[in-house]
Amino acid sequence: MTHVAMLEALNHGLRFFDAAAARLGVQLHLLTFDQPYYAQELRAAPGILCHSMDTSSVDDVAGFLVEHGITALISNTDRWAPTAEALAERLGLPAVQRNTGELLDKTSTRQRLHEAGLARSRAVAGTEALALGGEVLDIADRPVIVKDSRGSGSKDVLFATTPQGVVRRIKELESRGVPASRCTVETYATGPMFSAETWTTDERTHLLGVSSRTISPMPNWKEMDSTYPIRPGSDWERDVHVWVSSVLEAAGRGPGPSHVEFIDTVHGFELVEVNPRLGGGLGGAGIVEATGVDVYALLIHNALGNSSEKVFTQESGAPAVGGYAQVDKYASRTGPLGTILGEDILAGFPGRPQWHPVRLPDYVVSDLTHQGAAFGTVSAVGDNAETALLHAHAAARHIVPANDWMTDDRD
Ligand SMILES: Nc1ncnc2c1ncn2[C@@H]1O[C@H](COP(=O)(O)OP(=O)(O)OP(=O)(O)O)[C@@H](O)[C@H]1O
Ligand SMILES: [Mg+2]
Repeated sequence: MTHVAMLEALNHGLRFFDAAAARLGVQLHLLTFDQPYYAQELRAAPGILCHSMDTSSVDDVAGFLVEHGITALISNTDRWAPTAEALAERLGLPAVQRNTGELLDKTSTRQRLHEAGLARSRAVAGTEALALGGEVLDIADRPVIVKDSRGSGSKDVLFATTPQGVVRRIKELESRGVPASRCTVETYATGPMFSAETWTTDERTHLLGVSSRTISPMPNWKEMDSTYPIRPGSDWERDVHVWVSSVLEAAGRGPGPSHVEFIDTVHGFELVEVNPRLGGGLGGAGIVEATGVDVYALLIHNALGNSSEKVFTQESGAPAVGGYAQVDKYASRTGPLGTILGEDILAGFPGRPQWHPVRLPDYVVSDLTHQGAAFGTVSAVGDNAETALLHAHAAARHIVPANDWMTDDRD
């Protein structure tokens, strides 16, 4: 039997990996420092063997792979991408992204794409912005975003409209432990946010569809909902495909999935960030359901060194649904999350809504301003993206912490 290891994983999707591995006759090993994080998903993925180890240690993970004779590694997260790269260098593993240091740095990726004419705004490092007293870009006319160039989960993303504001936001990030050298300043792009979900083979990038995002009210940037695929078959989608193919080529993305966030402005597409992995949450599930492309099987083939057009075609089946949506649920108060109500009523709703919790009742919510306050996601399907989103929202409003109800209102 062929063995393939996964260096951690996104929090949903293990069940799809399990099904693909069974079909391909592959034994999957999930390597993790935090087994309880996957407990829920692993229950639906009985074929995956889970191993606890220090996944930030290249020596420990390399030791495990060598001991078990495993020569294929799936790296599908941002956080462990540099470790996976170091392992690939040491052990000669195929198809693991090699320039992750640069690719995951939002300053250098934006700068590279700006120089290639693929991003309108240039990136200004926090140190340069401080030296200029915040007089950067065209701040007098347009607001800017000041953010952690290595950030994730929408944490440490701030907004400024004046030079003084830029300086203050950088100082604020410094006080949160993000040094000025790691801050990046860029023009605030105005418009709806989307993400191009792609798969790159040895020969080209395939656009698997565009997903939408609704972002929370200012001053936060939490992702509230997402639906997929937006305007399939349109000229707009073809334009996204051309743009994202060039972006990934200029960014040096090798074979594998990407999740490229962008804003559709009145001047055209503006990059937000390039992630060399599947979209988070249920993004992968949506791709499988709404396109029939088994991206989980493709990740396994890729790790085994096969990123050909042929294998992409083989793994492209028929779509099961026209649209797939997700609504993220956020805590409304800090402290222990407590029991979540509402799952029992979902079966009566159209669109097969499902509740996917990511936090246990004893989880203590410490910050409401970023994605860390999310306690789960409601998914739903529909004839198209719009209907799926309506289905998901209708069901999702029922999923609420018991703490948010007045006791007497519940019977
Ligand atoms: N230049 C920009 N113009 C407009 N909005 C932006 C810009 N940069 C960031 N944002 C907003 O802030 C959010 C978070 O930024 P970004 O995606 O770079 O950080 P992140 O923490 O990696 O996000 P996540 O991990 O949640 O995808 C984006 O989803 C977008 O809504
Ligand atoms: Mg993002």
